[in-house]
Amino acid sequence: MAALLGIDIGTTGTKTILLDPDGGRIVASAVAEYPLHTPRPGWTEQDPVDWWNAVVETIRAVLDKSQVDPADVKGIGLSGQMHGSVFLDAGGNVIRRALLWNDQRTGAQCEWITRAAGKELLEHEICNPILTGFQAPKILWLRDEEPANFDRVRHVLLPKDYIRWRLTGEWAGEVSDAAGTALLNVPARDWSTALLEKLGLPLNWFPKVHESPEVSGHVTPAVAELTGLRAGTPVVGGAGDCAAGAVGCGIVRPGLVWASTGTSGVIFASADEPRTDEHLRTHTFCHAVPGKWHVMGVMLSAGGSLRWFRDALSSAEKSVAGYTGQDPYEIICAEAAQAPAGCEGLVFLPYLTGERCPYPDPAARGAFLNISLRHDRRHFARAVLEGVAYGLRDSFTIFRQSGVPIEEVRASGGGARSPVWRQIQADVFGLPLSTINIEEGPALGVALLAGVGAGIWESVESACDQVIRTVSVTEPNPDNMAIYEDYYNDIFQTGWLCLRMEYQRAAELVEQYAQ
Ligand code: XUL
Repeated sequence: MAALLGIDIGTTGTKTILLDPDGGRIVASAVAEYPLHTPRPGWTEQDPVDWWNAVVETIRAVLDKSQVDPADVKGIGLSGQMHGSVFLDAGGNVIRRALLWNDQRTGAQCEWITRAAGKELLEHEICNPILTGFQAPKILWLRDEEPANFDRVRHVLLPKDYIRWRLTGEWAGEVSDAAGTALLNVPARDWSTALLEKLGLPLNWFPKVHESPEVSGHVTPAVAELTGLRAGTPVVGGAGDCAAGAVGCGIVRPGLVWASTGTSGVIFASADEPRTDEHLRTHTFCHAVPGKWHVMGVMLSAGGSLRWFRDALSSAEKSVAGYTGQDPYEIICAEAAQAPAGCEGLVFLPYLTGERCPYPDPAARGAFLNISLRHDRRHFARAVLEGVAYGLRDSFTIFRQSGVPIEEVRASGGGARSPVWRQIQADVFGLPLSTINIEEGPALGVALLAGVGAGIWESVESACDQVIRTVSVTEPNPDNMAIYEDYYNDIFQTGWLCLRMEYQRAAELVEQYAQ
């Protein structure tokens, strides 16, 4: 039996799957977790060696569980958290812990790059604003704040590309993840020498970029010994976790849109050309499909908002769930179903950890607007689900303004599992929302890319057509659509605009009075 290995180096852990390409069955999967370090508020770091240990552990686990012959593993695909920076010295040693995608320390460097680059270059080559999470400002932060470390840097890699280097010994990356560094010429699908020159960064610090299904290297004999894989197994370019997750959901043609609710929320559309929002409110990156691009809006707290609601405000639901064996989320969603659409005016702004799209504002915070004596926990639960759906809808609004076609929306993550949340999303987006047969996310996406690289499928599109199919469609309810249209336009969309000065001041006060 042929098998394909998909590895996703996530923020909480690494997930590895073995896929049987014939029929698209998951043969085995394994997860290994690692710590997230937050040495100061707003800073997030991980040790790349922890990622590597998790990758080795999970590869061994899936080979062991499945008893697949390593010679039958025809290819490996790598995915991972985007935007992080792994700094390596001339010997390939990790210089310091990696700064992650959700790290907020680089505000000053973002302003500096934005000025140095100029509007023209950002709009036409980088196709994105310079945001605190992206890799480019992290490199300049190291230059400004840790010059001794900066002097030792000879290679800068994204998280999954560090793993590729450990697996194959190749300094290689690929276009979808590289686009999230803010150093790639996105239309040309290669590094922006113009921006690198302006920033004074040498091109040879950055790896060669491949297309996602292209073979980028082969497993070394030493790694084969360590993991049980066969030496010489090909490793394809792979993809950043968003593009990989989209491939794993079949979002590979214009008109298909992906609504993903993990901790963060992503609205992702495939595009035949690099369409850029004129105000750079959404991201334009290369897709994992050769010669294609994608546009994407990212909200920072989607599932994260519901997790906060569960952990901070739902102790009763958690103890009931403990007795009945249910998932606390099921109980919270059942309560939400008892409140009417629009929550009788209660509106939640889901900016618990700041926001990225459409408001790149690290100081923004959550809010419940219009609380009245009529509101109880059913309304609060529903308002959280609705507020996240409104936040996702902001990306649809921008896509529509920039002419991105929207024909079918596929949901994944917590928002796809709950029927109540699915209906809310369909009603808030005003679009039918479908779910698919297989929910393995980025690890599945890169296993499919590995299959294309190994010649099992002739294209990414045909791999998706063979493995992924729609299993349910939630139609929008016209009465609820009308209610949500009004709350979205008149309350939600103006919420951040009305509060942004207060958010800034509150951030200053929090800093001033921090214990
Ligand atoms: C995408 C993004 C996150 C990270 C973490 O732009 O920041 O999805 O990749 O998973």
